[in-house]
Amino acid sequence: MTAPLTADWAALSAGLRARDGVACQWRVAAAPVGNVRPTDFAWHEEPVPSPDEGEVLLETLYLGLAPVMRMYMQGTGAGGARKLAPGDVIHGRGVARILESRHPDWRAGEIVQGQIGWRTYATTRMTAGERFFRVTSHDLPYALACGVLGMPGLSAHAGYFACGQPKPGDVTVVSGAAGGVGSMVIQMARIAGAGRVIGIAGGAEKCRTIRALGCDDAIDYKSEDVPRRLAETCPKGIDYYFDNVGGETLSACLERLAMGARIALCGSISEYTRTTPFGLTNYTRLRAVEGRMSGFFVYNHVARWDEVMGEMAGWIRAGRLKPVQDIVEGFERMPEALSRLYEGKNIGVQCCRVRPEPPHPAVEGAARG
Ligand SMILES: NC(=O)c1ccc[n+]([C@@H]2O[C@H](COP(=O)([O-])OP(=O)(O)OC[C@H]3O[C@@H](n4cnc5c(N)ncnc54)[C@H](OP(=O)(O)O)[C@@H]3O)[C@@H](O)[C@H]2O)c1
Repeated sequence: MTAPLTADWAALSAGLRARDGVACQWRVAAAPVGNVRPTDFAWHEEPVPSPDEGEVLLETLYLGLAPVMRMYMQGTGAGGARKLAPGDVIHGRGVARILESRHPDWRAGEIVQGQIGWRTYATTRMTAGERFFRVTSHDLPYALACGVLGMPGLSAHAGYFACGQPKPGDVTVVSGAAGGVGSMVIQMARIAGAGRVIGIAGGAEKCRTIRALGCDDAIDYKSEDVPRRLAETCPKGIDYYFDNVGGETLSACLERLAMGARIALCGSISEYTRTTPFGLTNYTRLRAVEGRMSGFFVYNHVARWDEVMGEMAGWIRAGRLKPVQDIVEGFERMPEALSRLYEGKNIGVQCCRVRPEPPHPAVEGAARG
């Protein structure tokens, strides 16, 4: 799906063109206040760098967008990332092809995913901190390495299974259900044998999407009364709440917990742009139901990368997990793509196609999806 340019963003990208042979970057111009604005970003061009001994040269194919990038731009060092200041290239994970390698462990031609930054070409030493992984599922689109077969996929899996400890039959509620992580979690709940699955999302189109992905019911938090709808859809209470948004929605779910309920704290996007924190007051509801609310951070789960990615790829091939991606075309549109997350415009994982995918090596017995 390609979204039309909105006026402000069109002005920012007008006249810019990422092209082969020139290394283009997006850098921080100013720390965002509220949602990102065009004036927060600066375009930069320079010659394509040559790799030194021990480095590789990458050409970027896709970049993924995540809400945390706004925090990176604010210089908070969110998630343990290096703190950014105006003039720095914005952090971001993506998918790339190795054009040239002077590194003993990586070969030219390999497709990799990792911390590339908002750059069309990059040289790197492939350090542990950049968390590079080979893309090995050549029967599937490389774009998925920004989504189900990337860090968003690991987030959904680690959050839903390892953190939240689902049980068969759970009445499960997922907020941010039409977003990148949420669209995977509602499908994992089906795979794991949940009872009723209720998704919360903003708008009628998103609610239709999450029903099609397997939700028994959908709550449009922008036009419906969430506490009333939770009472209707979960009359015996919520066994498992997967929280992507925090704030009022988390508070409403706490009010409806069933005995032994679990809450997995994945994200709290409704709070990221507030100047005053929401300030949850009803967490003590956990006491009466002997419930548990626990958080997780995806980078603490990368040791399970191969196992989780293998399982996710298997679900995709078996038709049990449908990847939902929202692809903006063109590196010039990266700033706009980030703003879409905070405006609720994306359905599924928001990413940006920087270049067409190179031909995939032939994979016996499998057709590329
Ligand atoms: N714990 C971890 O390690 C980890 C890892 C990855 C992501 N996360 C977190 O997980 C959450 C989902 O991440 P994602 O990358 O998949 O992003 P995403 O869900 O695709 O993010 C954007 C969505 O958030 C919703 N949203 C925006 N502003 C909102 C608001 N004020 N109130 C309620 N919903 C709002 C919008 O959907 P609607 O139209 O439905 O509002 C929007 O489409 C985020 O909070 C992210 O920070 C955590």
